[in-house]
Amino acid sequence: MDDKKSNAMWGGRFGSGPDAIMEAINASIGFDQRLAKQDIEGSRAHAAMLARQGIITNTDADAIREGLLTVLSEIESGSFEFSAALEDIHMNVEARLKEVVGEAAGRLHTGRSRNDQVALDFRLWVRDQIDAAIDGIHALQKALLAQADAGADWVMPGFTHLQTAQPVTWGHHMLAYVEMLGRDASRFADARARMNESPLGAAALAGTSFDIDRHMTAEALGFDRPSANSLDAVSDRDFALEFLSASSICAMHLSRFAEELVIWSSAQFRFVSLSDRFSTGSSIMPQKKNPDAAELIRAKIARIFGANVALMMVMKGLPLTYSKDMQEDKEQTFDAADNLMLALAAMTGMVSDMTANRESLEAAASSGFSTATDLADWLVRSLNMPFRDAHHVTGALVKLAEDKGCDLPDLSLVDMQSVHDKITKDVFDVLGVHNSVASRTSYGGTAPSEVRAQVKRWKDLL
Ligand code: ARG
Repeated sequence: MDDKKSNAMWGGRFGSGPDAIMEAINASIGFDQRLAKQDIEGSRAHAAMLARQGIITNTDADAIREGLLTVLSEIESGSFEFSAALEDIHMNVEARLKEVVGEAAGRLHTGRSRNDQVALDFRLWVRDQIDAAIDGIHALQKALLAQADAGADWVMPGFTHLQTAQPVTWGHHMLAYVEMLGRDASRFADARARMNESPLGAAALAGTSFDIDRHMTAEALGFDRPSANSLDAVSDRDFALEFLSASSICAMHLSRFAEELVIWSSAQFRFVSLSDRFSTGSSIMPQKKNPDAAELIRAKIARIFGANVALMMVMKGLPLTYSKDMQEDKEQTFDAADNLMLALAAMTGMVSDMTANRESLEAAASSGFSTATDLADWLVRSLNMPFRDAHHVTGALVKLAEDKGCDLPDLSLVDMQSVHDKITKDVFDVLGVHNSVASRTSYGGTAPSEVRAQVKRWKDLL
């Protein structure tokens, strides 16, 4: 049969080959060649199973399995010539296998279809990405822990509404991201556990009349079990959607931190200095050192979340089982995975390299009446005042300090007593930022002692 006229894999009933535009819209080889390793791994497991079940001979299976390794090495070395006429990675590999091992290659596709084949390959690929994402998250968590450990008692302002709220410790702030990333890693792990079923052997959609052993291939490929419904097996893309939604949430966390780094590295804040290795300059303003990596991480969430939404939209209208729409699952997922890994690596680099400016952090922590809550708590504790009244008295003291253009610890005792006559000089003990953070020893609080305990817990966990 002439390959140019009609497809060698399915062209039996076709009189002519596809229009060039048809080929352009149909071919996925431009991107799904990334599934080569998984495709060959799956085919090798399938061939071994076919032989053990007596469906093909051992001789054929050995030739196929060896030949597939040859094809893989050709692909990995870059010498493989991909053909758009052969549509996708599955048919490119099989066509080349035929050139390498001859007729035996034609027996490989017994008891399976491209529908379960692509579901398998893509699932294996996503599973690898999940593992890589978890590794990347752990590396970032370790970088954050090093920062938290060093700065367990460095004081900085804690914000709500981006207004100074209460003093917190640098270590505590770093640990907040360690917690978020811990949830991200566990979301990926959950998704992995749920997706770890083999679709191979579901064939086109209905299963097969060949006496295949789906448990054998599932086990060989590291799956917990074969999927239990062949219609579901070939039409399910939940595993990619779960990967994308876990990636979206993780990228959202990275983006929030990136936003903080952009703010913190500005001349107005000067909370951190980013290293030269993770900054860029301006072509016109010589003084500039820009946090481009942080800004790009902040933007990555857009395309990752976009991929998630796109795949949801692709899937939502599809009747069971496979439709060609599902070929659009890959590019988006590849792009999202690449950018998530890049964002994790860039954030890890920035965090490892960045220097916290302790003086600026502490000066900022001491301004903005950050210990007003400590003052109110002191009134409750020392003068037995109801908290609501203490809140009111403190508010009046803040107003007084504001009018005088000073901070709370700068008010004199006489000033304080002009607002409430029972206030004693002991109040000044709670107005310092170090005392403030040291006092917040409730579980999960910002006290250096708590931060050190949490750093230790995470170091043991990781
Ligand atoms: N390239 C296709 C995809 O990515 C492979 C499956 C094709 N199946 C089919 N029935 N045409 O979805």
